[in-house]
Amino acid sequence: MAEKTAILHIEGREAIELPILNGSIGPDVVDVRALGANGYFTYDPGFVATAACESAITYIDGNQGILLHRGYPIDQLANNADYLEVCYILLYGEVPTRAQYESFLETVTRHTMVHEQIASFFHGFRRDAHPMAIMCGVVGALAAFYHDSLDINADEHREIAAYRLLSKMPTLAAMCYKYSIGQPFIYPRNDLDYAENFIHMMFSTPCEEYEVNPVIARAMDKIFILHADHEQNASTSTVRLAGSSGANPFACIAAGIASLWGPAHGGANEACLRMLEEIGSVDNIPEYIERAKDKDDPFRLMGFGHRVYKNYDPRATVMRNACHEVLKELDIEDPLLDVAMELERIALSDAYFIEKKLYPNVDFYSGIILKAIGIPVSMFTVIFAMSRTIGWIAHWNEMHGDPDNRIGRPRQLYTGAKRRDFRSMEERELCPEEPEQIMA
Ligand code: CMC
Repeated sequence: MAEKTAILHIEGREAIELPILNGSIGPDVVDVRALGANGYFTYDPGFVATAACESAITYIDGNQGILLHRGYPIDQLANNADYLEVCYILLYGEVPTRAQYESFLETVTRHTMVHEQIASFFHGFRRDAHPMAIMCGVVGALAAFYHDSLDINADEHREIAAYRLLSKMPTLAAMCYKYSIGQPFIYPRNDLDYAENFIHMMFSTPCEEYEVNPVIARAMDKIFILHADHEQNASTSTVRLAGSSGANPFACIAAGIASLWGPAHGGANEACLRMLEEIGSVDNIPEYIERAKDKDDPFRLMGFGHRVYKNYDPRATVMRNACHEVLKELDIEDPLLDVAMELERIALSDAYFIEKKLYPNVDFYSGIILKAIGIPVSMFTVIFAMSRTIGWIAHWNEMHGDPDNRIGRPRQLYTGAKRRDFRSMEERELCPEEPEQIMA
């Protein structure tokens, strides 16, 4: 029995008592499940105040700008852990011992190759296809290649699917890039770590030795960590909803990739860099700030604002520092960084952005780092998808282990036509107006 309850008074009806559930931290949650049986639904477009599940993976306090994975603050993880350690924490809930870490690393490393026939699958796509379009298709197709372990009710099968996805995503992502530039696919190398291997598959060719720059590999690893999970965002909720029907994990992750692609979500990093290029110079910033504030102009400042953060996105703070480090270490002077810094300064002192609590988010700086390390803009969201795959799998796995899991089935506030009789084409031609009594 819940300690506190909420009482809902609806005119002319007996009060409805609703339990209040407590999480370990964060706001209490009114359990509205009993409302349906009482003939009411709740209305919350965009899920602004609706918890669709219970989860122990990630916690966000948007007002204070806090992000914790399994309790660990994101800045501590980004500065002191490596991506695979964070993956382990997300998946298993605790930090690994050295032996557990090494075994995890070994398993992930030894499953990075993809079925050789997947290469032929790529050739069906046009060369100029967007890499995200290819990723959606190829990841969905993995179910056709790895169908030996698709029993979602078996813990072991779910773990195998998790390893396969985590291991193979960098290989597939790099294949998307190589295909788009007409170069041969590069096989993974087991002597490299996760980030190094990705850089190697992206940039080496069979023609000469390629040495991975450690500055680039470190920056890449940090980008992976900062994108690893973000609780119930649009793509994670998509993965959960798709998975709730019992769909196979590869199809669910493909659904997540599709959802991530939109410019309001993971597509913002690409859109942000294109926006900085379009602004071009600090002199043009005021014009774009005015456009962002104009209700009649659809333009938005990409990389600004967040549904949950009403404070600086803690990932953006780490990304901002990483961005400066990378440009300094690689000795790159990028005028886009000057535009970004000035845009940030002006926006943060503008009444519109202050009043609406619009702060830079993770995507504001990630594009500048990715560009500095030679990643083409069209690959930005693919890298986000690759990094987020672990978060998606952790949530998908958590959902299937939850005894309360049921197929996701939101309800609606219906505002369409009431019941009316269908009239044949001939009847409609004879009498175009619908008879009034039928309309009622
Ligand atoms: N530029 C200008 N105005 C903005 C912006 C922006 N970037 N973001 C929000 N607003 C305004 C918006 O017009 C609205 O104004 P009003 O109250 O007058 O109608 C108000 O701020 C609240 O915005 P909202 O759209 O109701 O907020 P939301 O929670 O539905 O949307 C968002 C959040 C991230 C989609 C939105 O801020 C946005 O479109 N930002 C730009 C895209 C972006 O950077 N997305 C990456 C998000 S972080 C990475 C990830 O998790 O995927």
